[in-house]
Amino acid sequence: METKKFLSSYLWDLEPYVPGYQPQNNEGLVKLNTNENPYPPSPRAVEAMRSAIGENLKLYPSFDCLSLRSAIAKMEGLSTENVFVGNGSDEVLSLCFPAFFKQEKPIAFFDITYAFYKVYCKFYQVEYDAIPLHSDYTAPLSAFHGQYGGVLIANPNAPTGIAASLREIEEVLRNNPDCVVLIDEAYQMFWGHTAAGLIETYPNLLVVRTLSKGYSLAGLRAAFALGQPHLIQALINMRDSFNSYNLDAIALAGATAAVEDTPYAVANAKKVMATREWFTEGLSGLGYQTLPSAANFVFTRPPRGDAQQVFEALAQRNIHVRHFTAPRTAEWLRISIGTQEEMERVLAALTEIG
Ligand SMILES: Cc1ncc(COP(=O)(O)O)c(C=O)c1O
Repeated sequence: METKKFLSSYLWDLEPYVPGYQPQNNEGLVKLNTNENPYPPSPRAVEAMRSAIGENLKLYPSFDCLSLRSAIAKMEGLSTENVFVGNGSDEVLSLCFPAFFKQEKPIAFFDITYAFYKVYCKFYQVEYDAIPLHSDYTAPLSAFHGQYGGVLIANPNAPTGIAASLREIEEVLRNNPDCVVLIDEAYQMFWGHTAAGLIETYPNLLVVRTLSKGYSLAGLRAAFALGQPHLIQALINMRDSFNSYNLDAIALAGATAAVEDTPYAVANAKKVMATREWFTEGLSGLGYQTLPSAANFVFTRPPRGDAQQVFEALAQRNIHVRHFTAPRTAEWLRISIGTQEEMERVLAALTEIG
């Protein structure tokens, strides 16, 4: 039967994002392929979610999400009008494209960055320029200056893990006063710096952050955007034209408690960062070339560049990492940082694989 006729034409050649493999049976598995946090979420967040389950679920959740927005505003030294919350940063980013990036000029992001950006461009029919990273995978940030309809930077970048300095980010903001500069800080907690302090000065800055990585809440789907009120109101208008209750009551309770317990998350991030340094050194001892990471993963090249073979050999040992097959990344592996014990197991496996 010809079924294509039932679909809108723009769906015919859509190329959806392919997420990392999510095995359902986790027994004995070392899962290092989607940059999840190996430590559990804050016990206070778990307790808040338990308490949110009850008769109250018969009611719609808060549509202005004030408790969560206030907790985030307080943490950042901003006001609630500077905060938008969403169902994971994938949702927040997806609302940003129609809100800010449908311009006459193309938007710009790096050739090697979060793969979802291209998917949104296709979905929302937004033209883009993919600016090549330098050969050492650092970012030529001056390439963004002044000619685009929008700028999108993952900082630290993924999958490289490399962070651009706040001074460089400020230069991009200063040189693009007429378009939105979106800084995707998904991995901010493993770096410790943020562009959020520039919000008061730059009306074109939007910072997006997630609770998936730093707060160990990938399963909850909660994230936020920070910016001046005109940008935040634009996102609220977008959301209210799409799904006005985008965070459910359980997620709101859990995310609020998690943000209020940020020191717990920071302590876990410090453990991840210490393991990252230890693991990077171990990789270097095996002849792997590893980029300097400010995130909860490393991007590393096996001595012979045979990343696909190493990926498969690790998978046979029940260790799952990520391999991107595009030309500039095919010789590299992205390995999320797990617990110290998990990374010891990975290093032992890599030693064995040789
Ligand atoms: C750079 C970057 N931005 C956004 C996301 C999406 O995160 P979330 O779980 O909040 O949708 C990811 C996920 O891996 C990411 O790497």
